[in-house]
Amino acid sequence: MNAHPRNWVAIGDLTDIPREGARVVKTDAGCIAVFRTADDKVYALDDRCPHKGGPLSQGIVHGTSVTCPLHNWVFDLATGLAQGADEGAVAMTAVRVEQGRILLAADDLARRSAS
Ligand code: FES
Repeated sequence: MNAHPRNWVAIGDLTDIPREGARVVKTDAGCIAVFRTADDKVYALDDRCPHKGGPLSQGIVHGTSVTCPLHNWVFDLATGLAQGADEGAVAMTAVRVEQGRILLAADDLARRSAS
């Protein structure tokens, strides 16, 4: 657990993203795919599949998973981990929704752009 309060950056409204859809946010740490599930949970993962770089934002969202559009690997949106027999993980950024606004953890982005 991070002892320091996080810095959050607003990237838009929840309603900007269709249910079971995604929106890409360009950051210094690269493109982040922000997903909205059917029940309005929001997750932020790198928009790059660890298999061969497929754009996860263009994948199919089902439940709390997304299927990569290129070769159908499935990733858990809550952990970033590949499911089934496939192995790999997508880097995640902490995200929360406050009064309908989507906020990304600026600390996570800064840490990743520095590495
Ligand atoms: S690039 Fe995503 S499954 Fe191959």
